[in-house]
Amino acid sequence: MPIKKVGVVGFTGVMGAGIVQLCAQSGYQVVGFSRNQERTKKALATIEKHLSRLVEKEKISPADKAAALARISTSDSMSALADCDLVIESAVENMELKKGVFAELDSVCRPDAILATNTSSLSIIDLAMATHRPNQVLGLHFFNPAPLMPLLEVVRTIATSDETLAIGKAFGESLNKTIIVARDAPGYIVNTLLIPYLLNAIRMLDRGQAAREDIDTAIKAGLNYPMGPLQVADYIGLDALLFIANIMYEESKEPQYAAPPLLKKMVTAGWLGRKSGKGFYEYR
Ligand code: CAA
Repeated sequence: MPIKKVGVVGFTGVMGAGIVQLCAQSGYQVVGFSRNQERTKKALATIEKHLSRLVEKEKISPADKAAALARISTSDSMSALADCDLVIESAVENMELKKGVFAELDSVCRPDAILATNTSSLSIIDLAMATHRPNQVLGLHFFNPAPLMPLLEVVRTIATSDETLAIGKAFGESLNKTIIVARDAPGYIVNTLLIPYLLNAIRMLDRGQAAREDIDTAIKAGLNYPMGPLQVADYIGLDALLFIANIMYEESKEPQYAAPPLLKKMVTAGWLGRKSGKGFYEYR
């Protein structure tokens, strides 16, 4: 089944808006679903701003920008997703909420539609079993910022059919992403490697082994990474990082995933990284 129309649930979040922008730029009709009008307006304005910046930088033409925007529609009713070939859920990382979203999608979407989740840590088979089509459910895990990062992790559960996996991979390729296939285990491939690295940088800072700038500079200048670990942590969002670490720790009981006290304290204080204006660094 060729994918022509894509729905995105949770499109007003950073990841959701990025996925909508990416799909629209790649030629898909996209429906962004959100029940919050205010956040819908803000998300559309952010997408518009990013596309304008790409025009300024001459990465896309003004006509490309207009065409991408024209492919995006929004709705506060899930029934607007009824004729989508693929729906990508990118709601907050809450299992009960996501199960509810999948059950609702299952009742409104066409029987042949594929349902995907952008979760970075929750068990996808649990979401699949909230539907009557577990063979048509898979993970499509994007990286922030979704329009720029080259990777897409395609995650298959024990129930995902070969056909669904093939469609998910082909869809990712049509977005010009590099595809890797991972099992439905917390962290998949990237976060299994990334989370211990980020947590170790926070532990290093907490025990006073090095200043924040030196930790980040070590990795940027020593390994040629675009951002240091504390910058990446702020970029992901410290609440999201804590959530992912907790899920991975609960599942594995491995100390490498145990959240450092400093991370917990910062989240308690509302220092969530870029999105709140303060994390390991301050942002205007
Ligand atoms: N569309 C288009 N451009 C966008 C964008 C979007 N949606 N979002 C951000 N940008 C652009 C900004 O406009 C800005 O460009 P300008 O300064 O020209 O306006 C640029 O991104 C950010 O500024 P930089 O100077 O940092 O740009 P850069 O070219 O050096 O690189 C980057 C940007 C690609 C983000 C690079 O810094 C990078 O690769 N950083 C690492 C990010 C990373 O690790 N992401 C993964 C996080 S883990 C995750 O997402 C998954 C998980 O499960 C935890």
